[in-house]
Amino acid sequence: MKSSEESYTYLFSMENICFEIEDKVILEKINCEIGLNGITGIIGPSGSGKSTLLRLLNKLISPTKGIVRFKDVDIADMESQDLRKEIGMVLQRPFLFKGTVKSNLLYGPKIWNIDYSDDALCKLLDTVGLEADFLTRNIDGLSGGEQQRVSLARSLANNPIVLLLDEPTTALDIVSEEIIENTLKRLAADNIKIIIVTHSLEQTKRLTDQLLFLKEGQLIEKTTSKDFFKRYNEQEIRSFFKHTEGK
Ligand SMILES: Nc1ncnc2c1ncn2[C@@H]1O[C@H](COP(=O)(O)OP(=O)(O)OP(=O)(O)O)[C@@H](O)[C@H]1O
Ligand SMILES: [Mg+2]
Repeated sequence: MKSSEESYTYLFSMENICFEIEDKVILEKINCEIGLNGITGIIGPSGSGKSTLLRLLNKLISPTKGIVRFKDVDIADMESQDLRKEIGMVLQRPFLFKGTVKSNLLYGPKIWNIDYSDDALCKLLDTVGLEADFLTRNIDGLSGGEQQRVSLARSLANNPIVLLLDEPTTALDIVSEEIIENTLKRLAADNIKIIIVTHSLEQTKRLTDQLLFLKEGQLIEKTTSKDFFKRYNEQEIRSFFKHTEGK
């Protein structure tokens, strides 16, 4: 796919990132690079700064200090829209516009003048395991799991090279969670980079190749998932997820 033909060293890099609100330090001196391959998990206890870190990556917020780079370019120098064309984001609670599934899917492509036939939109729905007849359905009539899948399909409509996902399956039943996880695995195999915040130890095991482990606003570990699960026992790892291990 297109990303492998481009030349850059890191998909994202963070250099001395600090994020403060009202004198409260939320993230402190984060230094890390996120490379080119696989699914990266962001894990850590509730309040450790996971969502904040994700939001910094697509410029929903800006760091108090430090530099975030996307494909080696300081994102402070990029237009938010240009950045977000390449970065799809799915929030914990599906955020959809009123209207039909079709109008939601076409939101990004319209901004970018990307033409989409109904056939192509149906393919997009198929990617997330939804039947073609969903295209004309109204958002209001969809279940939480269906809405989350539409949300994922919409984030794919611009052909992003990376997806940022903030606990995308937390509110879902097991079947919807499995469908989304399988979709993510397929996308990753198709060379879409995925960065996922998760509070589920089991999901971390099932999905991730590498991990960023945050605690109290600091990056404690950046390692492969294999190494992480080898070095710590289950009980230790559960304590890292404490109060947030819902599944
Ligand atoms: N806009 C804000 N104003 C004040 N405090 C904030 C703001 N955004 C985040 N925080 C605080 O920063 C800390 C980190 O928040 P963040 O949402 O990044 O944590 P998290 O690791 O995603 O937690 P969770 O697992 O509960 O989603 C929390 O203490 C939170 O209250
Ligand atoms: Mg969060």
